Amino acid sequence: MRTMFAPAAVIAALFAIQPALAADPEAGAKIVKTKCGACHSTAAGKNVVGPSLHAIVGRHSSSVEGFRYSAANKAADLTWDEATLDKYLTSPKAVVPGTTMTFAGLKSETQRADVIAYLATLK
Ligand code: HEC
Repeated sequence: MRTMFAPAAVIAALFAIQPALAADPEAGAKIVKTKCGACHSTAAGKNVVGPSLHAIVGRHSSSVEGFRYSAANKAADLTWDEATLDKYLTSPKAVVPGTTMTFAGLKSETQRADVIAYLATLK
């Protein structure tokens, strides 16, 4: 009986890691440059129109030092984990109503996954 479980577990694990494998951080870097770069730097401590995206993955919302966040972003009690970033980048306004991030959102799931995979490399 035990051997029956192993293949199922392996298959389940493969499905679970598939999206992570599919995400392409290099493609994400290009998207960040073109779609986010006008407002965000990826350099640590460099805030421009928006806060630095350095080490943003896993960070608490409104915690980048030296950036003046809107009241809306300050009120949002979020952790920028992959799932939350995915929702936010789909529609920033839907997740943080009143945000001053005037960005309509990335409709492509693949693009969002690539962007998040890239952001995760910024440590
Ligand atoms: C038009 C300018 C603009 C663009 C384009 C833009 N952002 Fe922003 N972003 C901002 C501003 C401004 C804020 C601060 C929002 C606030 O305080 O309400 C922000 C906030 C954020 C936050 C929350 C930061 C925190 O510390 O809570 C994340 C994450 C983020 N942006 C990611 C991105 C990504 C990824 C892209 C590209 C896909 C992007 N942004 C595109 C201006 C922009």
